[in-house]
Amino acid sequence: MAQYRRAGAAVAVIRLHNAPVNALSSAVVQALAQGVKKADLDPSVKAVVICGANGKFSAGADIRTFSSLQPRDRPALAETVSLIERSQKPVVAAIEGVALGGGLEVALGCHYRIAHAQARVGFPEVLLGILPAAEGTQRLPRLIGIPAALDLITTGRHVLAAEALKLGIIDEIVKENTVERAIELASKVSGQPLGPRKISLKPVPDLPDMEAILSEALVKVKRKARGRLSPEMCIQAIKAAVQLPFAEGVEKERELFRFLLGSGQAKAQQYAFFAERAVEKWTMPSGTSWKTASAQPIRKAAVIGLGTMGRGIVTSLVKAKMLVVALEQDQKQLDIGREAVTSLLQWEASKMQQSGQSQDICDPARLQFTLDFGALRDVDLVIEAVFEDMALKKEIFRKLSTICKPEAFLCTNTSALDIDEIAAVTSHPHQVIGTHFFSPAHVMKLLEVIRGHHTSPTTIATAMSLAKTLNKVGVLVGNCFGFVGNRMMAPYVEQAIFLLEEGCKPEEVDQAVEGFGFHMGPFRMLDLAGLDVGWRSRKGQGLTGPKLAPGTPARQRESRRYSPLPDFLCEQGRYGQKAGKGWYLYEKPGGRTANPDPWLYNFLSEYRETHGIKARFVDQEEILERCLYALINEGFQILADRIASAPEDIDVIYIYGYGWPTHRGGPMFHASTVGLPHVLSRLQKYSEAHPDIPKLQPSPFLKKLVALGSPPLREWVSHVRQPSSKL
Ligand code: CAA
Ligand code: NAI
Repeated sequence: MAQYRRAGAAVAVIRLHNAPVNALSSAVVQALAQGVKKADLDPSVKAVVICGANGKFSAGADIRTFSSLQPRDRPALAETVSLIERSQKPVVAAIEGVALGGGLEVALGCHYRIAHAQARVGFPEVLLGILPAAEGTQRLPRLIGIPAALDLITTGRHVLAAEALKLGIIDEIVKENTVERAIELASKVSGQPLGPRKISLKPVPDLPDMEAILSEALVKVKRKARGRLSPEMCIQAIKAAVQLPFAEGVEKERELFRFLLGSGQAKAQQYAFFAERAVEKWTMPSGTSWKTASAQPIRKAAVIGLGTMGRGIVTSLVKAKMLVVALEQDQKQLDIGREAVTSLLQWEASKMQQSGQSQDICDPARLQFTLDFGALRDVDLVIEAVFEDMALKKEIFRKLSTICKPEAFLCTNTSALDIDEIAAVTSHPHQVIGTHFFSPAHVMKLLEVIRGHHTSPTTIATAMSLAKTLNKVGVLVGNCFGFVGNRMMAPYVEQAIFLLEEGCKPEEVDQAVEGFGFHMGPFRMLDLAGLDVGWRSRKGQGLTGPKLAPGTPARQRESRRYSPLPDFLCEQGRYGQKAGKGWYLYEKPGGRTANPDPWLYNFLSEYRETHGIKARFVDQEEILERCLYALINEGFQILADRIASAPEDIDVIYIYGYGWPTHRGGPMFHASTVGLPHVLSRLQKYSEAHPDIPKLQPSPFLKKLVALGSPPLREWVSHVRQPSSKL
């Protein structure tokens, strides 16, 4: 838990030991405290070094134990940090790998801090719905000042050693032998006065406009937090550091921590932390899993189509230091694509420069632009990102199958189409897989990985490993129209549009959903994505356009309710932001400020009149429940269909791909929090009121779980009916 040893005559070294990240479990904290006391009591010890095993200092408190923590529990870690600072002998932190959260708090209790050049430090607690509760909110402002402490504590961002040195968090950077250098320093400073090195004794550096800085920070975090409590509580704790003596500031920190720990948000955010790690451990329905499949190395990749998605995918691959071939259909598109990729790479390089990272990561020399499929002969993996058109995709995959080397992996970025149908035209269907990136592809963290019927475990392992290489979260799902994310999105958007028919305005629906914590409501999202995308898909499915059978009722398709509203908008050229008008009006084509549009209000009134719909007032609760429970209902069906192998998969997809608020834990976690019987009864109520909307009829799997007494979320999949044996 914490090994104690002597280095040379006068230095004691305490090494934290709790694989894999030296999390500060109560046993580790206890052992650390014992080590410090032992060193203090031993007159032959003149100085102490604290370090971590396996090249990591510590990733902080053991998050797994939070669920059993009682808000009234005394924070043992804080006491140990104080104990370190009170030591009569200099204590030096030797930081390798990470010093995060409680790990950094331990380091701030030390009198000196040395870090390896690759080490990262930070206070990510805010991302777990809590705040640094071992006196970190009181020490960091004293060490680096209020503006920098506000930035670090309210964003949770990790900073590299170089930036930490600049900020004054660490005293020295070393390129190697961090612990040895710390031992040298400890020997050198032994006997020197420790008072000036004790951060708790320092005043917070004063600024003339302190009040204004704190108020501005509060406004900024509130705007961004969208209902998350922890950033605001972090500011309150930092404010206490400014206004109160250290000991009283610590009391305030504890009070705020207890409040957050008891809130549902902390539970949701910690669930999301572990869900993100759980999805890496994928399993196929056949039982094959990450444990047995191994990924192939990808050194050179190709991207076909440099439109909205392709250019972001190319940027991601180049950033990950791969050789990339970028292919377009004609010179004009190639030139447009090249320009777009170049400017994205320049932007990435400038961001890296600002954060002190090496910019050669974005080296455009690794990138080849071409119109020639022959350039794809030696690539290890291809990502197709051409128009969403099955015939075109098949034509491309047919070509790839003959041109690429036989072991190349062939990926499609389709957002909904059948992976098996695409794979069937190739001679290696087991090497075909869906890699569904999200827009903008160089920013969004999600990669939905879709296994086809023949996709091999090696192909899956390679796609999942690609996600990690690109610094994304890969989630493996099954093949069906829309996969997980877009399949659940469809009933959500459908409800939003039906609500307009019934009397809502787009901004009312968006406000309700954004009030829940979504980054964007459905109508702002549709305008951003482009209304023509869905229109093309509906025309393809024969729901509108020339393929629609004559005489089909305007608001019905196969006896289900259908709204032609979005089709009408597209017929008027209202494609959304890019056209300057869609569900909202924008200042110009491509403008970003969504303004309510009087034209639309008129249009909606006329539409309702034409179809004999009496507008009614719909309250926020109904808006939210109809949109969100329709989406969640589809999630239960997706679990029952074994398209997602666990609720965590769905939740991670929604958090990283669709802006579901982390503090609500994801749609399935949210359902478990509000209670499955509640979700079921509301769906029953709405489906009775709207019997012509099949997506409001509760999923049989949801009903089954309720009948079983609503087991906890982690048990849900054990109740999914297994497919019958083929034997
Ligand atoms: N507690 C418990 N387990 C932790 C942990 C922690 N603080 N940090 C990581 N782990 C676990 C992960 O769950 C994972 O477990 P499995 O292998 O069983 O899935 C394992 O350690 C490895 O983690 P990653 O897969 O994330 O490894 P990585 O190398 O990609 O990243 C890391 C390493 C940067 C440390 C990352 O794990 C991380 O960001 N951890 C969380 C750090 C954090 O938030 N610390 C603050 C804790 S709260 C605190 O300290 C509060 C306080 O003051 C009271
Ligand atoms: P886009 O229309 O912006 O770009 C498609 C590009 O493919 C165009 O530049 C076009 O010139 C090129 N192209 C067409 N035929 C080609 C050929 N034969 N050879 C080479 N290049 C060719 O489309 P977008 O939005 O980038 O979508 C691409 C794919 O990604 C689609 O399957 C879409 O469903 C999917 N997708 C789109 C998302 C989005 O938000 N736009 C999100 C996730 C997936």
